[in-house]
Amino acid sequence: MKAIAMVIGACLILFAITNLTAAPPTAPALKIERGKYLVERVGMCRDCHTPHDERGEPIREKWLQGSPLSFKPIVPIPVWADKTPNLAGLPGWEDKEAVKFLMTGMAYNNLPGRPPMPQYRFNQEDASAIVAYLRSLAPVATSASRK
Ligand code: HEC
Repeated sequence: MKAIAMVIGACLILFAITNLTAAPPTAPALKIERGKYLVERVGMCRDCHTPHDERGEPIREKWLQGSPLSFKPIVPIPVWADKTPNLAGLPGWEDKEAVKFLMTGMAYNNLPGRPPMPQYRFNQEDASAIVAYLRSLAPVATSASRK
């Protein structure tokens, strides 16, 4: 009797472990929702990464798909970037390097993005929420995803 109970117990534990390790393949909706909030209300990524129409409104259909910048520095800045890459779907980025970039400002090549890309210092949780949100946006074919 005792042996059977032990076998059943072991099976239950095994079942619990496999259930825990079988993480869902997509990020949970709450995490994506938090990433959306951070991108839209905190990081203001769309100011630079979304093209604007002639009235200065961001174009919804091209959300975060990269854009020429509509402003220039008033003093010369040698490495100034005049356009932004596409962020929808985060093509070309590993999750790990994108999270590091948002936590440290250093990209996959250990260099910061050129100005005016801010060097963000999000914490791990927020950075990975932002990555989850950007991944959830439909990827678009673009040549501007990497420099
Ligand atoms: C003030 C303008 C501005 C804002 C706001 C901004 N970016 Fe950028 N971003 C840029 C520019 C310009 C580049 C291109 C930099 C370059 O070519 O080196 C860039 C590049 C990037 C890159 C690619 C970096 C690389 O080295 O390839 C990523 C990823 C990125 N931005 C993510 C974000 C996210 C996420 C946000 C919001 C949390 C954001 N950006 C907000 C201007 C901005």
